[in-house]
Amino acid sequence: MTAPTVGAAPAETVDDLVARRVAGQSLEAPFYTSPEVYQRDLDVIFARNWIFVAAAAEVPEPGDYVTIDVGAYSVIVVRDDDEEVRAFHNVCRHRGSRLLQERQGAVGNIVCPYHRWTYGVDGKLMFAESQPPTFDKSCFSLRSVHVRNLSGLVFVCLAQEAPDDFDAVAEVVAPHLAPYELDRAKVAVSYDLQEAGNWKLVMENNRECYHCDGHPELTTAYFPLFAYEPEDITPRLKPLYDRYVKAAGALAEVRAAHGLPLTDHRELDTRVVGYQLSHLPLDGEGKSFAPDGAAVCTKLLGSVQDAAFGDLSLHMQPNSWFHLLSDHAVVFSVLPTSTGTSVLRTTWLVHPDAVEGVDYTLDALTAVWRATNDQDRALVAGTQAGCANPGYLPGPYSMVEDDVEAFVNWYVTRLREASA
Ligand code: FES
Ligand code: FE
Repeated sequence: MTAPTVGAAPAETVDDLVARRVAGQSLEAPFYTSPEVYQRDLDVIFARNWIFVAAAAEVPEPGDYVTIDVGAYSVIVVRDDDEEVRAFHNVCRHRGSRLLQERQGAVGNIVCPYHRWTYGVDGKLMFAESQPPTFDKSCFSLRSVHVRNLSGLVFVCLAQEAPDDFDAVAEVVAPHLAPYELDRAKVAVSYDLQEAGNWKLVMENNRECYHCDGHPELTTAYFPLFAYEPEDITPRLKPLYDRYVKAAGALAEVRAAHGLPLTDHRELDTRVVGYQLSHLPLDGEGKSFAPDGAAVCTKLLGSVQDAAFGDLSLHMQPNSWFHLLSDHAVVFSVLPTSTGTSVLRTTWLVHPDAVEGVDYTLDALTAVWRATNDQDRALVAGTQAGCANPGYLPGPYSMVEDDVEAFVNWYVTRLREASA
């Protein structure tokens, strides 16, 4: 038996770290390097909150499914025969085998590979061989997972009781998403980027454009100014800012002509379903993410009629962001895969009738965000390595990193609430 160590300091707990978090500066190293914090993140953030997992366009027909791994959980998102998007735990009700192994596919029914229990895409058990007469199939449906299809964006919540303010947020956001008709869009392409960083570093990096000088492709169209107040504009940024003000005026006129307001909403850390919605002008031609803001697809999404429709930017806590443009949308989800790794899934959506090679090319459609994702990946990997260095100390956020602070504040608040 090992003797207790006399005089040793008590082990620091996750609660200690959370309690002493200092507002306005980056988190202490264990938030990015500790397996205990990672497990807390899975339990408190990913298993209790609404997380974005897929575009509804990834499951366009009944029987189409995707599977999503979140920590030890695996979830099936499937379109049922009534064309509703459903979500189930990817676990057989017999002896627990994983049901669907592939990331994506199409099924008539969901058949367990072990003893062939067979479920409908509505989750109901339809067939189980060699059961006694007393066996009641209705007691062994797949366990459902809370799911919302927000205008074509699919969110799930793994908790028994989901946070109840999702619907209130959806009510605000849905009218802004409506013109793009993402529910009937087509997936042009989707890919997973393995990030060498804790999931929070990927999110924090997304929440600021302080580093956007490192994104030459993105900033030919995107104004890296969304967090700036006029008084923050330095002489170096003034010409860019003047162009931004002019482009914002033009975008306001376009939206007014369509009877659509230019209203923004920001509740990133003031509610459980934290979100921010902004209508941002684009530089150059003002149409899309391409050199000089040119269009990348000839067919416009949904009921959008003007190519210079700006960028509807939506940020949702804890794991997603979205850019909706006149001619395509790009949707992003971040999921943790270990303490120091995560996966960023990026999906490009276009008009359902847009034809590759005719209306768009994958190279032109994806060039900006593939380059930007790669650049961000290097920044995140460098920060993960830095945070793991014993020489790391938390540093202060600049005046244009408010949304990083809001993300971290949202995160720490959830951890504090869970501990309380
Ligand atoms: Fe699925 Fe036996 S574990 S049928
Ligand atoms: Fe970036």
